[in-house]
Amino acid sequence: MLDIQKLINNKKINQFHNSKEINFIVKSYLSDKINDQDMAAWLKEIFDNGMSINETIFYTDSIINSGQKIKFDNLDGYVLDKHSTGGIGDKVSLILGPILAACGIYVPMVVGRHLGHTGGTLDKLESIPGYNGLIDINSFKKNVKNVGISIIGQTNEICPADRKIYSLRDKTDTIASLPLICGSIMSKKISEGIQGLVLDIKYGNGAFLESKEEGQKLGELLSLIGSKFDVDVKYLGTSMNQPLGNFSGLSCEIIESINCLNGKGPEDLMKVVFDLGKVACSLAKINSAEEKMLNVINNGKAYEIFEKMVYEHGGNLNSLHCTYTDSIDIKAKESGKLQFINTKKIGEAINFINILTGKKDNSSGAEFFKKNNDTIDKGDVILRLFSNNMDNLRVAERLVYESYSIN
Ligand code: URA
Repeated sequence: MLDIQKLINNKKINQFHNSKEINFIVKSYLSDKINDQDMAAWLKEIFDNGMSINETIFYTDSIINSGQKIKFDNLDGYVLDKHSTGGIGDKVSLILGPILAACGIYVPMVVGRHLGHTGGTLDKLESIPGYNGLIDINSFKKNVKNVGISIIGQTNEICPADRKIYSLRDKTDTIASLPLICGSIMSKKISEGIQGLVLDIKYGNGAFLESKEEGQKLGELLSLIGSKFDVDVKYLGTSMNQPLGNFSGLSCEIIESINCLNGKGPEDLMKVVFDLGKVACSLAKINSAEEKMLNVINNGKAYEIFEKMVYEHGGNLNSLHCTYTDSIDIKAKESGKLQFINTKKIGEAINFINILTGKKDNSSGAEFFKKNNDTIDKGDVILRLFSNNMDNLRVAERLVYESYSIN
């Protein structure tokens, strides 16, 4: 008879779990037979002591089997997805997904909500009035076939165990663990029925894994797990030592993504989009990738696909807005060179004003006017925080003051 207390103790003394034990934990937690407290204790042991490769495979497999695994057998192109390990202002999936679909790749995308200090693609999409990111599998498959891309969250049908564990990890500070990140990402991606996966492994002071080396270790682990489940994985390490692009929040990130799809994206953000896009195209055996991606931006096809996807999910882009009553400008108190030294604090501030105050504020967020190494004068606005609640903004302001230095 398996018992969670015994399994927690086994992990404490570094004993390996077998597949039956991991299945028992994942299944019992999903069906409420293991409570949050015991699951959190088990997650903490994994966070502290890690998992072997075999355990990580069993864990990923258990989460996949908590729902269904999609099969695409009537598509005339390569089936691929892109995923990021999480960042601030990281809206690359929203831009690159439609670009790849416009280049002929089919993109089924299962994403998460905000996790720790990082933003969630599903939260951002839900700032579009009417957008339903929890559609059933058949509608998801139909959208992928007809539009080229569909973006949903974990549902009762796809990776329900990840949805529940993800939320508990968020509350219990057990996020930055290689096997837990790996199980969470790869279960979603393998369940989508993809052939290839491009991963954006974020490193730096705004990422879960700060060092490039840790990021690389995660990339290798994710690739290995992919190969065990017949998914071709390629990864790039990209810096999260400052917010990506000019906005971070909910509807403001959708608006910035639309601008990018219309050829008006900021340079740092578009560089990541194109770098990852080239890797995706190489997996899909598409030549002259950069030229093709630029072409579908310039001829409007990429935006058209984004618009169509939103429509098929019930969203109304005409009602999308970012209107707020209050804002605070964060100004330089001295002159010098700017460095974001703790970008996580910006993510915490943004999630606080967006989501964590009890009432979701789709129009809250931040606009960034300066980047690392910019020379600034005393009084220059570094960034603007905006929302519909001044008290919340004051809390966010204090967090942001800890995020940068001027040398
Ligand atoms: N993205 C995920 O989907 N899961 C994690 O654990 C981290 C980033």
